[in-house]
Amino acid sequence: MGMERKRKVSLFDVVDDTCVSAKLAKTNRFAVHGNGTNPLVNRWNGRPYSKRYLEILQKRKTLPVWHQKEEFLQALKANQTLILVGETGSGKTTQIPQFVLEAVELEIPDKRRKFMVACTQPRRVAAMSVSRRVAEEMDVNMGEEVGYSIRFEDCSSSRTVLKYLTDGMLLREAMADPLLERYKVIILDEAHERTLATDVLFGLLKEVLKNRPDLKLVVMSATLEAEKFQGYFYGAPLMKVPGRLHPVEIFYTEEPERDYLEAAIRTIMQVHMCEPPGDILVFLTGEEEIEDACKKISKQVANAGDVYGPVKVVPLYSTLPPAMQQKIFDPAPPPVMVGGPPGRKIVVSTNVAETSLTIDGIVYVIDPGFSKQKVYNPRIRVESLLVSPISKASAHQRSGRAGRTQPGKCFRLYTEKSFNNDLQPQTYPEILRSNLANTVLTLKKLGIDDLVHFDFMDPPAPETLMRALEVLNYLGALDDEGNLTKLGEIMSEFPLDPQMAKMLVVSPEFNCSNEILSISAMLSSKCHYIVLSILCLESNRLSKWKYNNGLRMLLLSLRMHACLPVPNCFLRPREAQKAADQAKANFAHIDGDHLTLLNVYHAYKENNEDPSWCYENFINPRAMKAADNVREQLVRIMVRYNLKLCSTDYNSRDYYINIRKAMLAGYFMQVAHLERTGHYLTVKDKQVVHLHPSNCLNRKPEWVIYNEFVLTSRNFIRTVTDVHGEWILDIAPLYFDLENFPQCEAKRVLEKLYKKREREREESKN
Ligand code: CDP
Ligand code: MG
Repeated sequence: MGMERKRKVSLFDVVDDTCVSAKLAKTNRFAVHGNGTNPLVNRWNGRPYSKRYLEILQKRKTLPVWHQKEEFLQALKANQTLILVGETGSGKTTQIPQFVLEAVELEIPDKRRKFMVACTQPRRVAAMSVSRRVAEEMDVNMGEEVGYSIRFEDCSSSRTVLKYLTDGMLLREAMADPLLERYKVIILDEAHERTLATDVLFGLLKEVLKNRPDLKLVVMSATLEAEKFQGYFYGAPLMKVPGRLHPVEIFYTEEPERDYLEAAIRTIMQVHMCEPPGDILVFLTGEEEIEDACKKISKQVANAGDVYGPVKVVPLYSTLPPAMQQKIFDPAPPPVMVGGPPGRKIVVSTNVAETSLTIDGIVYVIDPGFSKQKVYNPRIRVESLLVSPISKASAHQRSGRAGRTQPGKCFRLYTEKSFNNDLQPQTYPEILRSNLANTVLTLKKLGIDDLVHFDFMDPPAPETLMRALEVLNYLGALDDEGNLTKLGEIMSEFPLDPQMAKMLVVSPEFNCSNEILSISAMLSSKCHYIVLSILCLESNRLSKWKYNNGLRMLLLSLRMHACLPVPNCFLRPREAQKAADQAKANFAHIDGDHLTLLNVYHAYKENNEDPSWCYENFINPRAMKAADNVREQLVRIMVRYNLKLCSTDYNSRDYYINIRKAMLAGYFMQVAHLERTGHYLTVKDKQVVHLHPSNCLNRKPEWVIYNEFVLTSRNFIRTVTDVHGEWILDIAPLYFDLENFPQCEAKRVLEKLYKKREREREESKN
């Protein structure tokens, strides 16, 4: 006891990691941790530290944040909110949470008292990858003391004290635990990304901090906008971690590139053949493009012959399986023979490598100047992911990746003039470019009713908020006063778009919740963001997003593809496209693509989830497994809210009809009508759209619901199902109220249907 008093360790006292066990032993605290007296015993699990732990520790101590560990812990002790700014790779994400943990743990050494530290990440790959790294650094098993949580995947346990989670997941946790009471310290990382969820968390945490004096907040960012954060958080102290960047030489193209992908591959080959050793990092926009590029690079490298060193090409994007994600950290391959040319690693990545993940050893960066960005047009309620020119700030971050370990080079595949004139200084915060229906539902659930006065760092446009309220009102999630309804409350429990949530919640009424669950799970394996056409974009005056040269490149290079966690289930390898299309035709349902997805899911289950069956039928087993996992989690939510799991008899003629009606009950705002001209027009918004060539219909139905609005060379609607005009009247009378319906063919058809209905009613009366 006496010793205990002599060396009182209080919250956020400064402790060096190596000797913490020794100090604990000295202060008698080892008893609490059950470590014995060995300073080389891991205080988390009582096991001796591995050799690897000590090796990594040496490396960790060279990271810039370690030089300011003491200063950081003191600042944290003295303040409730702290802003930390540091160059990418300085050790913020991996080290700071461990420093924080150490401090908290010493304050609350009683293992029975639960304490936790959360560190948010805008990207799921980063959450997974960083938590794995930190588990290794702490010498504990992944998912035990250190874990991660992302949508549809929770890798943490009751032992978890440090959790990396996507910002969206922390927001979801707040819905169940409004004061986030399980956490002692919350770290909002990558704050400069200004994702929608992070922005909402800013406002929310500001409130929570007022109510919880014991909670601390650390906001971490890679240099940008730090002063803005400071102003927003009542002048919270700002700590800067000086980076140690080597000089990076920047090259521009002399002429605009027609095809950035082709230009990127050409540049990679030039670097590989002409530049001294060093790894290459290339920024592309998404999975399909990256996989395609990887194949092409490998082929060209093979063609170049063995005069040049061996090459390892590694992709990096969000849907990559975790084992593959780790490969980006593998060293470059060794020379083929002693004294031969050295090997090179080529990482082909999405924006995730811009600031979220740091790969050591990169010397050359190739920056085509594009990334996939969300754009929203509230007028027609269309949100899209569009391959768009990046900002100057992004370009700067990208080039910085080349100077981590030695002087490097960055090849920008655009002209210097384009850089100066076309690129925006900063990327707009996501909240200004998003459909806010989901966010508004979350905020309502969190009890924030006055959205207009919510403390947003950058308030969204009133029109966007109005649109969100309107959508939720049509869906029945909010009443006419804007209050959350019982239905809305249940809808908010699903980590899905409000439309899909609505479809699930009402599916028992249509006696088909089992099938709607399968369809929802399969749809979550696709992008349900809708892609906006450039024309809409301009008409929405978003043209202040200057494209100019960029626009030309953009039009030439638009490639849209799935962008959500779970990949598309249909495989279509280039060398076997015909066979793949035939295989897909076997699953086709003439009434629509949603039902085709249901057929695939059923067949997968009937064939016992057999991967070889999948390959024979050109089905992606990974997508199916992911869909199955999603389904399981959705079932859990259904059960928790007493939503019945039921099916219509398969032999009944209503089996598919009920499913289609339930889908309409969620997606009635995504209906298109076939005009006499032979084109489809989206209802109310009157956009000309075409059925995507991938559809399974054998005809052009008069009315269809669609899951996404895609732009390639023209407007397509993808994943469509036939619905009937009569159903529309029954299921969505409010939305299809003809009093406020723009003049169009669809309106005239609906008028006739209403009249017919009235006549029938009259007749039945007589
Ligand atoms: O967050 P910040 O950009 O400041 O740095 P970090 O992500 O904490 O990375 C610090 C160091 O850890 C870098 O040198 C990374 O290369 C290394 N690291 C690693 O080797 N393996 C990982 N999975 C993650 C980080
Ligand atoms: Mg980081």
